[in-house]
Amino acid sequence: MTSNKRRLAPLAIEPRKASVLPALAAALFIAAGPAASALPSDGAAGGDALTICADPDDLPFSAQAGDAKGIYIELGAEIANALGRPLKTVWSQTYFGKRAIRETLLSGKCDAYIGLPDSKNFMGPKLIFSKPFLRIGYALVSPKAQGASSLADLAGKRVAVQFGTSPELLLADHGDIQPVTVLDPEAAMKALAAGRADAAIIWGPSAGYLNKTLYQDAYSVRPVSGEGMQWPVSVGFARASGDLRDKIDRVIDEKAEAVAALAAKYGFPQAEPISLTAASSAGGSKPSIMLASQEKPASETAPATAPEAAAPAPGSTALTETPAAAATPASAADPAAIAAGREIFNGTCSHCHGPDAIVGQRRINLRLLSQRYNDKMDEVFHYTVTHGRPDKGMPNWTGAFSEDDFSKILAYLHSVQQN
Ligand code: HEC
Repeated sequence: MTSNKRRLAPLAIEPRKASVLPALAAALFIAAGPAASALPSDGAAGGDALTICADPDDLPFSAQAGDAKGIYIELGAEIANALGRPLKTVWSQTYFGKRAIRETLLSGKCDAYIGLPDSKNFMGPKLIFSKPFLRIGYALVSPKAQGASSLADLAGKRVAVQFGTSPELLLADHGDIQPVTVLDPEAAMKALAAGRADAAIIWGPSAGYLNKTLYQDAYSVRPVSGEGMQWPVSVGFARASGDLRDKIDRVIDEKAEAVAALAAKYGFPQAEPISLTAASSAGGSKPSIMLASQEKPASETAPATAPEAAAPAPGSTALTETPAAAATPASAADPAAIAAGREIFNGTCSHCHGPDAIVGQRRINLRLLSQRYNDKMDEVFHYTVTHGRPDKGMPNWTGAFSEDDFSKILAYLHSVQQN
């Protein structure tokens, strides 16, 4: 099961949706794990085996333990088989996105990385890609009996969306739909099952997999089309591996059916994507799907791009719903509050986040919070300090500090943001 790890980070993607793919890559394909460490491999690239890098705990994509291997691992086996080579997997927890790719694929630890976004923007010319073999993205989930398939169907309903994702932004433009904000697909499915939401627009592969493995296929899971909603997935290679890429491209051509079968096995939503952002037509021929209200398509009102960042995941943890109201930084400009916040920070937080929040690892660099989350910074801060990210090593500080303390720490952090 995807367990408690919020690794299918649509969350992480979304803050930068306009630039989409690079962000995406950092986020979902390369799932999130506590510590990026490519395990050394004895027979990495070079031997007879086809070596792939994969995350050890990222179902439905890949898993090291348990019976379900994940679609990327099974596809890897198919490909290796077709090439007449044994498959070898280098397990590497890949929280860091690009960095993980640099430390694995681009350092020669594996021949191929299955499941990268097919985009030159991702890491520039260092990476080359196979043809896309799959398309993944968000999906509309609703009880089968209702089979919601348009925004109009959702009017007046409570719809679960993941914090910080395109679907959340989409609903923000539709006041007639009541968003139920959750942190991950599992929480959304729970909310549906418990009757706390009527539908959900969440990360499709997870929704499909959960629907199949935990919910007896009770829900219809339909991919949603549109800006920031679906992405093609490829196999990535280091630039020098053009020959292998060409061979694998030929295998991919032959494996379309096998891929479809695997996608079905893992419950990936397969239907044609439905549009929830349909443009309103100028009379005459009505588009099949209309916006509930005659607003502009959400794609036109998409939020500004947030800067590139290293795969944060505001929700990368808890199962809780709805991030709490944001703490307001205690008078952001108040020097006394900033000084007090700095003192608390350097007393407690600096052990991990560095003295004065200066730290080499981008992932825990709190000077990048505003780059990473823009105007959601306060909300993410408050949620994270009061819930922790237990699976990532960030403690929950509830009880250790007062709201006032948190505000001061936040005021301090505001004073050191790199913009
Ligand atoms: C024991 C180590 C540790 C300590 C101490 C710690 N943190 Fe963290 N914190 C982490 C880790 C690890 C992460 C990254 C979690 C992840 O990868 O999602 C994190 C993440 C965060 C984030 C979210 C960062 C982001 O970009 O999403 C915030 C905010 C944060 N910590 C604030 C604090 C504050 C404030 C304190 C002090 C009260 C503190 N942390 C103390 C380990 C720690």
